[in-house]
Amino acid sequence: MTQDLSKSDVASKDKQSAWLYSDIVKDHFFNPRNLMTDEDEKNYKADGVGVVGSPVCGDMMKVWIKVDKETNRIKECKWRTFGCASAIASTSVMSEMVAKKGGMKIEEALKITPQDILKELGGLPEPKMHCSVLGDQALRAAINDYQNKK
Ligand code: FES
Repeated sequence: MTQDLSKSDVASKDKQSAWLYSDIVKDHFFNPRNLMTDEDEKNYKADGVGVVGSPVCGDMMKVWIKVDKETNRIKECKWRTFGCASAIASTSVMSEMVAKKGGMKIEEALKITPQDILKELGGLPEPKMHCSVLGDQALRAAINDYQNKK
């Protein structure tokens, strides 16, 4: 069914599908939080690093974490992706969830699900749901890396 493309944020090339993003998604896409720049990375001493690729679209996500060894809380969560707007917004919001209020405990961070991220984002269009998984998986990979190094 053809939708009213004038009311959408994005339309497919064949104009057969279109969707809207929540204001939260747009805010995080245009102003990504905790993004790792090339400059930042030069001197960054991460405690754990995780890289994952999406089997659905071939995009890639990298997450760096710093952990307070005394409290086992994540002090910082940085990230970079070769992914779409939804992957950028999802990981940006996830990086805030993890590091706010003194940082989430490692055990709590491991319990974050793509559904938790979607809730925080105010949802994603159905065709973009898989994009929220990338940040979540890269965070787990970074935590595993941290735990393996301990
Ligand atoms: Fe690949 Fe969104 S389409 S991360």
